[in-house]
Amino acid sequence: MEHFGPVERMWLRNEGRLFGVVFVLFNVLLAIFNVLNYRVASRATVPCVVITRLDASTAKLSWTDSTDTTGDYSNNLTTPHTRVVKLRNSTQEETIPPLNYSLPWETEQRDKYTVVKRYIPADGLPPTYDDSVTLCTQGTFEFLQHVPELCDRWEGPLSVSVYAPGTDLPVAVRKILFLRKCGPPCVRLNVSWHLIYESSLAPPHLEAPMEMAEMAAYEPLNCSAGFKPLQLLSEIRSSKKLPYPINVARNVARQLAGTRYVLASDIELYPSLHIVPRFLELVSRLAEKEIGKIIPRRVFTLPIFEIKKEFPAPKTKEELVKRVKEGHAIFFHKWVCDACQNFPRRDQWLKSLPEKGKEDLLGIFQITKRQMPRTAWEPIYIGTNEEPLYDERLTWEGKRDKMSQMFELCLLDYDFYVLDNAFLVHSPGIKTLSSVDQRRRAPFMYKNNAVHNKLLAQMKKKYGARKGC
Ligand SMILES: *[C@@H]1O[C@H](CO)[C@@H](O)[C@H](O)[C@H]1NC(C)=O
Ligand SMILES: *[C@@H]1O[C@H](CO)[C@@H](O)[C@H](O)[C@H]1NC(C)=O
Ligand SMILES: *[C@@H]1O[C@H](CO)[C@@H](O)[C@H](O)[C@H]1NC(C)=O
Ligand SMILES: *[C@@H]1O[C@H](CO)[C@@H](O)[C@H](O)[C@H]1NC(C)=O
Ligand SMILES: *[C@@H]1O[C@H](CO)[C@@H](O)[C@H](O)[C@H]1NC(C)=O
Repeated sequence: MEHFGPVERMWLRNEGRLFGVVFVLFNVLLAIFNVLNYRVASRATVPCVVITRLDASTAKLSWTDSTDTTGDYSNNLTTPHTRVVKLRNSTQEETIPPLNYSLPWETEQRDKYTVVKRYIPADGLPPTYDDSVTLCTQGTFEFLQHVPELCDRWEGPLSVSVYAPGTDLPVAVRKILFLRKCGPPCVRLNVSWHLIYESSLAPPHLEAPMEMAEMAAYEPLNCSAGFKPLQLLSEIRSSKKLPYPINVARNVARQLAGTRYVLASDIELYPSLHIVPRFLELVSRLAEKEIGKIIPRRVFTLPIFEIKKEFPAPKTKEELVKRVKEGHAIFFHKWVCDACQNFPRRDQWLKSLPEKGKEDLLGIFQITKRQMPRTAWEPIYIGTNEEPLYDERLTWEGKRDKMSQMFELCLLDYDFYVLDNAFLVHSPGIKTLSSVDQRRRAPFMYKNNAVHNKLLAQMKKKYGARKGC
């Protein structure tokens, strides 16, 4: 026989009472549900469309609109409509289903977003897996004009995802086609474009790029006239307050790269010259040295700078160092978030110029960890698709969008190899904080912070805490 102490007895009694309350509540809710359901159902009996075939080529549609929102039909709020429509005989191509037809692009669902992979693929032959490095980046239509500059400097494949919901889509496609036609040949040969939009804001039927551009065509593409006549306007993101899903875009661009090594970077960050061949040479040199050794988890980071808008973005380290000395270039985000790019001994990095005759070599400036006190450091690096992805719930507006991934690299004890003779420089113009921007982004920042905190807790559980992260 079971024996219940006073505490257990009280608990049982309380549980019995609780059960009673839940039971009554459930029935009340059920009753309310039934009443509501009945009303919804009775409202749905408003007739739909009645189609009357008039002759072989026309039909009459009749329906009744209910403008009523209260459910009260005593008011005269219904309006009958009729319309005669012309019936079109389907053409031969429509009636014969294209059995062997497959779309040239593939789509994927990622939470509430649709991804169209390689909507416009590069025309050139893709390099083999180990023979190049892919520059992976992302943006909305307003930023795509940076792609030609990236392409010219990179000399390798680019994988670009474009976030284009609703009316942004034809605008973005038109801009891409303009860049392919009027930009350097590199854009057509080496850039693959992917699309991302909310599935709820998808076109009813995604057309081939040329058809879509015609739909949005106000004028034919005229290279000498520039972007202006293209009327690249779309307000959907501001009117619907859609945040930019930057991490979906980052992940898509990275995962669709066709090479082992990838640089996941931002669209306004221009790389210095000849990074790809120098990097491949560095990696093969390392591989020779490391035969038989256990290779630690690592990524190769590039220091980032910004420069005053009066100056061109430097292409070589020599040029960059000169601009920094003159006070025209600074470390990236120096006035916005200095800690974000403050890697160890960064002033020393500026003092080490490549030796004469070794300008075309890339080496390791130093190997470091991203640990205390550098937990705000947001390095951009060349890595592989083995590195953890970016969390897709974090938005650009909410800031700190890369931080959880950085934290994960720290927990996984990654080494950061700082490259000595390669860098990124932001498209000219130095950024300062704007209070309007801060206010607009506040609700998104609140949301990102909540996701961020949850993520950090999950990761600590998954990998175990690590001192210094
Ligand atoms: C459609 O086809 C039918 C017979 O197949 C023909 O009688 C009719 O006129 C056609 N309608 C149109 C709009 O071409
Ligand atoms: C209701 O609408 C119909 C058609 O519009 C109209 O003929 C009728 O007079 C209206 N009845 C009242 C009570 O307004
Ligand atoms: C698809 O079409 C090609 C060429 O028309 C043909 O060779 C192939 O067998 C077709 N495949 C299928 C599955 O029908
Ligand atoms: C395109 O990429 C290839 C490597 O895939 C590179 O050799 C070539 O120089 C690039 N083309 C241009 C115009 O940059
Ligand atoms: C293209 O644009 C240029 C410069 O605006 C203009 O002079 C030229 O007539 C345009 N060409 C066509 C075909 O519209």
